[in-house]
Amino acid sequence: MNTEADVVRRAAELRAALNRAAHQYYTLDAPEIPDAEYDRLFQELQALEAAQPELRTPDSPTQRVGGTVLDGLKPVRHAVPMLSIRTETDTTEAGALAFDARVRRELKLPPDAPPIAYVAEPKFDGLALSLRYEHGVLAQAATRGDGETGEDVTQAIRTIRQIPLRLAGAVERSASSVEREDPSPSLTAQRSPLNVPPLLEVRGEVYMRRDDFEALNERMRQRMAAGDKAAKTFVNPRNAAAGAVRQLDPAMAAERPLSFFAYGLGELTPPAEGGPDFQTHWQVLQALKSWGFPVSALARRALGAPDLIAFHAEVAARRDGLPFDIDGVVYKVDSLELQRQLGFVTREPRWAVAHKYPAQEQLTTVQAIDVQVGRTGKLTPVAKLAPVFVGGVTVTNATLHNELEARRKDVRVGDTVVVRRAGDVIPEVVSVLPDKRVAGSEEFTMPAHCPVCGSDVVREEGEADHRCTGGLFCAAQRKQALLHFASRKALDIEGLGEKLVDQLVDGQVVRTLPDLYRMGFVSLAALDRMAEKSAQNLLDALQESKRTTLARFLYALGIRHVGESTAKALARHFGKLDGVMDADADQLAQVPDVGPVVAESIHTFFAQPHNREVVEQLRAVGLEWPEGEPAPVALLPLAGKTFVLTGALPTLSRDEAKEMLEAAGAKVSGSVSKKTSYVVAGEEAGGKLDKARDLGVPVIDEAAMRALLG
Ligand code: IVH
Repeated sequence: MNTEADVVRRAAELRAALNRAAHQYYTLDAPEIPDAEYDRLFQELQALEAAQPELRTPDSPTQRVGGTVLDGLKPVRHAVPMLSIRTETDTTEAGALAFDARVRRELKLPPDAPPIAYVAEPKFDGLALSLRYEHGVLAQAATRGDGETGEDVTQAIRTIRQIPLRLAGAVERSASSVEREDPSPSLTAQRSPLNVPPLLEVRGEVYMRRDDFEALNERMRQRMAAGDKAAKTFVNPRNAAAGAVRQLDPAMAAERPLSFFAYGLGELTPPAEGGPDFQTHWQVLQALKSWGFPVSALARRALGAPDLIAFHAEVAARRDGLPFDIDGVVYKVDSLELQRQLGFVTREPRWAVAHKYPAQEQLTTVQAIDVQVGRTGKLTPVAKLAPVFVGGVTVTNATLHNELEARRKDVRVGDTVVVRRAGDVIPEVVSVLPDKRVAGSEEFTMPAHCPVCGSDVVREEGEADHRCTGGLFCAAQRKQALLHFASRKALDIEGLGEKLVDQLVDGQVVRTLPDLYRMGFVSLAALDRMAEKSAQNLLDALQESKRTTLARFLYALGIRHVGESTAKALARHFGKLDGVMDADADQLAQVPDVGPVVAESIHTFFAQPHNREVVEQLRAVGLEWPEGEPAPVALLPLAGKTFVLTGALPTLSRDEAKEMLEAAGAKVSGSVSKKTSYVVAGEEAGGKLDKARDLGVPVIDEAAMRALLG
């Protein structure tokens, strides 16, 4: 910055950017820039103003504390202001040392005075609430607002299960006792039983757990995929929480599960009028717990700077594993008397400090958008980022979830984006800064062919995800395909488990399913941890698996949506593999239980030359099964009938009975309903038998079942 004019212009720019960010954050619940970026701009402006105080205009964001009060909710004046905490942005131990030194200096302690007792707590990343209890009953909940005046959010807050509507230990005041008393009882005049003060304001943080946040966003993504225009995802848990708290409709608020931690008090009946006489902050936390509030189990007493430093490090190590976001820790002088002596500067107490951790959101740029293929064939667009330090690690990739999300956020190559990494959740692009978009950028689209194997990519109706149809052939899906192929209900190849499949694929011994049958004893026995005996056992199991049934083979191919029973229905209906492979979607949809989506999936699978090739090769290496005549289920004796099996049958196992019934065209279900045709009951039949009797469903034994089978 060279000239005077440059400095003036820069200060104006910073004021505008910060005011805009504050509006987005507080009023719209939709921040565009990360907190860390806000802090940087804020500090830059503060520095300019410190050097040239005449730049400090009244509208400068540095002259205002906290947010503003919004329309729509009733304003609430805080009898005891809601303070903010001075923030120590130095994330090293110097932050704790500086705070302790400052406290000692301000208390004018000599250097050899004993260490100060503190309480250290996590700094929860949510929003501050004040809860007012009158005679132990929740009377009002308010946001912080500008610290003097907040908003009445009682309705939404009542939906939070963790917030007691009545304090533990508060005795219900019956209507008659209220009537006998002064009709407008002074809150300070009465003594409530069991240590519950007549008036108590609890201060704490409302937040959303990470798992609740992820689940909420997942629900929103599904609703968006289904075309719901009102659905939207949230950029982070704090934002989702802020929106929920300020929801006017409590039903909508309840849809977004919130949690709460108590960490302090506001107005309180004084000891002289029957209120508790606390000496330390630690006592306050214990009392809050006893009244039924959640108090963080991480909070602890700390003696002097060394304990604060240890706490900062300990919580940092646990940060990723916590179920909620924290952006630092808070140190508070434990003695309330010392707190009084220390007092305040502007709105910040001298007895507390927030010691930060590396931010979980940062700005960076998108260098490319790659498409990755998962084990199940799902395609995921991934933003390749200019390396950025966020949430304690350097991030270079961030998921965009799916095409819909990538387009909704409209992430493009060259964009400046907000990246978030919190906990062990994978890094995510939460939003784009539209002002910084480069000219000529293009909207993202999914490729029509799999970037790994070149097979067609499809997106099913009502689904958000694109998938590769190259199942058996696609290298990305190889391991999954092999494991499924070998599984018990497929070709049941004993000994071919996850570890071995990893070895075979990673060592390039097996690339496709037919390769399994081309392995020799020597290459197998050469594998790590493979004894000669197990190598021979595996070869035997493979040999044995070659003689199978059409149903098992169809199931083993791992066609999407083709489970065990669909495979059976297909085998029965078509009799021959070629019949299935050559059927079009309409013909496939003739099979009972095969709807349009399933039919389309089967058809697309066999339309891929790669998949046909694999099937041919499997036949060539010797896989075989008896082929039969087509037997459309509609013509079978038990077509359209549903059976439920319960108890032990005299001669047949459950699986044998199921197989016989299905072969005759019946469906076998696990639960009894009005639609059940028969319940086949054996020894020790339990609840299903009772239910059948309740519903009037015919109950038969094994002999009667055999008779029906003819
Ligand atoms: S105490 C005088 N304790 O941080 C101190 N605040 O910047 C009053 N916060 O508005 C607050 N965790 O929303 C306190 N353990 C904690 C906290 C905490 C998060 C938030 C709170 C407050 C802001 C102050």
